[in-house]
Amino acid sequence: MRTETVDFLIIGSGVAGLRAAIELAPRGDVVVVTKDRPSESSTEYAQGGIAAVMSDEDEVGIHLEDTLKAGDGLCRQEAVKTLVEEGPDRIQELISWGAAFDREGVKLSLTLEAAHSRRRILHAHGDSTGRELERVLLDKARSLPSVRKYPYAFTVDLIVRDSRCHGAYVLRDGKITALFARATILATGGAGQVYSRTTNPQVATGDGMAIAFRAGAHLEDMEFVQFHPTSLFAPKAPQFLLSESMRGEGAVLLNIRGERFMEGYHPMAELAPRDVVSRAIISEMVKTESDHVYLDLRHMGKDFVTKRFPMIYETCMRFDINIAEDLIPVSPAAHYIMGGVKTDLEGRTNLSGLFAAGEVACTGVHGANRLASNSLLEGLVFGARAGRAAADAPVRQAADAEHRQDVSAIPSADEIRKALRAAMWERAGIIRCAGSLGDARRRIHSYIDVIKGNYRTRHELELKNMLTVASLIVEAALAREGSVGAHYRSDHKDRGTDWKRHITLDRQSFRAGWAEAVTPVRNTC
Ligand code: SIN
Repeated sequence: MRTETVDFLIIGSGVAGLRAAIELAPRGDVVVVTKDRPSESSTEYAQGGIAAVMSDEDEVGIHLEDTLKAGDGLCRQEAVKTLVEEGPDRIQELISWGAAFDREGVKLSLTLEAAHSRRRILHAHGDSTGRELERVLLDKARSLPSVRKYPYAFTVDLIVRDSRCHGAYVLRDGKITALFARATILATGGAGQVYSRTTNPQVATGDGMAIAFRAGAHLEDMEFVQFHPTSLFAPKAPQFLLSESMRGEGAVLLNIRGERFMEGYHPMAELAPRDVVSRAIISEMVKTESDHVYLDLRHMGKDFVTKRFPMIYETCMRFDINIAEDLIPVSPAAHYIMGGVKTDLEGRTNLSGLFAAGEVACTGVHGANRLASNSLLEGLVFGARAGRAAADAPVRQAADAEHRQDVSAIPSADEIRKALRAAMWERAGIIRCAGSLGDARRRIHSYIDVIKGNYRTRHELELKNMLTVASLIVEAALAREGSVGAHYRSDHKDRGTDWKRHITLDRQSFRAGWAEAVTPVRNTC
């Protein structure tokens, strides 16, 4: 096996990974590995924007309150305080590196999204905010000679000896390299691909969560998956996100009979929290026996729509939907996972030498439900903090490379992937109960050999990771017998006893989950 030694290893090249790399650059050599091209990440596709207090009409205390309220009682207050207090400085820094946020005259243009009580969402090129952030951070990283990028390098597993992470085994050009590092930062993003309906890109297969879990890290809050209410629902079109900022600017939801319905579900109507809007849409879909509802922008006028949402306009036009003139068919889709690898405020995990930041991590900043547009900010703030903490990791101790060499193949990987994603959507999605979760658990259990196998292709390794993460979501969702934030149990509609606890999973609880998976649970949904 090839070996290579660096000071700092970062896995993932979205906002959190790149921001960490920039922080670490003066302290040693940094390698950023990414399984695809460097810009391919959830960051690149983020439309709506980035929330931060950047105007005199707003206050960090109000941003804090809005975030805590969205988190439904399960945020870690210290983490939220850190986010909202450090956010504006991270934004100013980005502007100084060349980020072109949209402006009205000289002032930053700020929009509104669900559950924000002030206009505080910055956006770029109308609806391509993530792309602008990725551009600026990649340019900055490129200007730093100590930062190198290894694209198309898939991280198979972490190198762990005596509860310490020493780097990772990385698959490049069909060969495994043991990449040793003083500190390793996971910044691999989310896991939306475990659901058949998702706004996430193909790369979001939960790799960082799965490899951390196999290495012995603790994962927390995995039952909390946020579903975005409005993803495009058209036969030939991709599951493309229709930004919440469209509702922020006044778009309304109609059922297929043309009736506006959100006012009957929540006083904030279309700008109610995402879980409320998603469940209301499902309810209307059931009532009208339809598989979608409509988003309506027709009253806004073509000039405004094409200027404010140019990328969404162009994309929908490719599928013959003119968003300024037509009703847009939409339905909810998995969007963001609040849980992940448990960290402290500096991105430290329970394994020394291993850090995590961004969607892969769980700092507790989002609680049971993320406030819209807080995630790019989280990537910037906690990416920088993880970078600072990793810089102080002790000089590398010697460790051997001993990755298992016996390799198997999964003959029906595509079919398993499809069946898993469908089972997660139908049985562990927006509305869950013990029966449906039990079904999902049994389905995952039938693929246990895949989880235990040792593979050599990206596709197979992704499937193994997706099964692991799906299992973690299902186990946590079964364990939480109550409805909090984005986690809604139709068999436990109230919060349940002991609802303030956080569910932490490790390899031990995983084994317990597998043991129970063979016990049928009556379907009560
Ligand atoms: C959106 O533009 O609706 C997504 C924003 C977010 O999820 O934070």
